Amino acid sequence: MHLLILALFGVLRLPTATAYIGNTSTTKDSFVNWRTFTGHGVNLGGWLEQESTISRQWWTTTFQNATDEWSLCSQIGSAQCGAILEPRFKTYIKTDTIDLLASHNVSILRIPTSYAMWISLPGSKLYSGNQKTYLRHIAEYATTTHGMHVILDLHSLPGGTNGLDIGEAVGHWGWWHNSTAMEWSLRAVDAVLEFIDQASLPGSYTLSPINEPVDNRDFSTFGSPAALSEAGARWLVKYIKAVLRRVQGVDGRIPVMFQGSFKEPEYWTKFFTGDENIVLDLHHYYYPLANATAANLPRFICEDAKSSAGDGTFPTFVGEWSIEAGGANELALRGRNLRAGIAAFGRFTRGSSFWNVKFQSEEVTPGEGVKEDYWSYEEFIRQGLLEGEIRDYRSLI
Ligand SMILES: *[C@@H]1O[C@H](CO)[C@@H](O)[C@H](O)[C@H]1NC(C)=O
Ligand SMILES: *[C@@H]1O[C@H](CO)[C@@H](O)[C@H](O)[C@H]1NC(C)=O
Ligand SMILES: *[C@@H]1O[C@H](CO)[C@@H](O)[C@H](O)[C@H]1NC(C)=O
Ligand SMILES: *[C@@H]1O[C@H](CO)[C@@H](O)[C@H](O)[C@H]1NC(C)=O
Ligand SMILES: *[C@@H]1O[C@H](CO)[C@@H](O)[C@H](O)[C@H]1NC(C)=O
Repeated sequence: MHLLILALFGVLRLPTATAYIGNTSTTKDSFVNWRTFTGHGVNLGGWLEQESTISRQWWTTTFQNATDEWSLCSQIGSAQCGAILEPRFKTYIKTDTIDLLASHNVSILRIPTSYAMWISLPGSKLYSGNQKTYLRHIAEYATTTHGMHVILDLHSLPGGTNGLDIGEAVGHWGWWHNSTAMEWSLRAVDAVLEFIDQASLPGSYTLSPINEPVDNRDFSTFGSPAALSEAGARWLVKYIKAVLRRVQGVDGRIPVMFQGSFKEPEYWTKFFTGDENIVLDLHHYYYPLANATAANLPRFICEDAKSSAGDGTFPTFVGEWSIEAGGANELALRGRNLRAGIAAFGRFTRGSSFWNVKFQSEEVTPGEGVKEDYWSYEEFIRQGLLEGEIRDYRSLI
């Protein structure tokens, strides 16, 4: 392990002292080129899309037995759903959250959103309210005050993209091979593009039009290339090409971050010319792997970082990852493992965004601690685990 890690970090070049390592746009006309742009960041998950795992206490008191937002809003109705969700949109992420992240060199925010904030799909139970107002406020602040880059992620799509709460609702797979769902998805894309186009700094945004598309209903394949079938991959490519045409119609300089399920980046090369303004998004989690422990996590991370580099056709980015291992978690190794991830993904890909900015869960993990000890970036900052992260990591391994 040591040799691999040392070889990896030996070739890293340290950035000179700047407030953040991103190369973010500062004028209305400067867009990022993901082939040169780099930075690291966090996800603002659980803000503009809801998941039962992210804020356990809030969920059990407000959502009670509901498995997802869809089932809650079906039970209590849209007005009641709004009474629960509007305060969440207003208070969960605030400008001081962004200040805290900026003070610790976070330069990229990946913001998962529910499609219901962009379109009103007939029959959908997902809540449409004032999400855009809150997103505008935070995104303007992050981009103009701190020079951050924002990845706007359509985390769910009409019909459901993966059978999970995050794809629309548990048990929903209706996005696949349904041209009506595709058409409504593209309307959501148009709405996101309009939002970007109307921002003070449109070049500070990347569009991510889909998240973890999975059509294999055998969940044991989730997280592996087998999670998406060949027919599913062709449907997905059809969507991504339609998205690229929509982007061309607004401003072709807006990059499209393509979350290609759990396929290796090389898999996608054959579907494209290589000229598209695409950055591939890979997701890496270690909690499902029984043989990953806090002690050996850097080895798993390094292997994933290398395999995420791709064949050079498109730049790549690690849009989600965390440091909970499947076995023997150790609180004392969190700082080292975080630094290993930020550094390794920064070396082999264009950077990463940790899942998640906040996490509240007392659920025990194998080994020491509870879930929130391993999933909350804000807590890592408060506990000093990220102090001097870029400068000091060589001495930590
Ligand atoms: C920042 O981006 C600009 C425009 O793409 C590029 O010319 C420049 O080399 C980049 N700088 C760094 C430090 O990556
Ligand atoms: C939740 O509880 C309510 C009332 O007790 C019940 O009507 C509903 O079916 C339950 N929903 C689920 C998803 O279990
Ligand atoms: C296709 O998707 C639309 C929108 O989600 C939905 O209303 C419709 O029922 C779906 N059609 C089929 C055949 O599943
Ligand atoms: C961990 O287990 C997986 C199978 O679950 C296997 O593919 C992988 O090679 C193992 N990794 C190591 C480093 O032992
Ligand atoms: C932020 O990055 C700068 C430059 O690499 C470094 O000097 C500083 O220690 C970092 N601060 C934190 C809190 O990570």
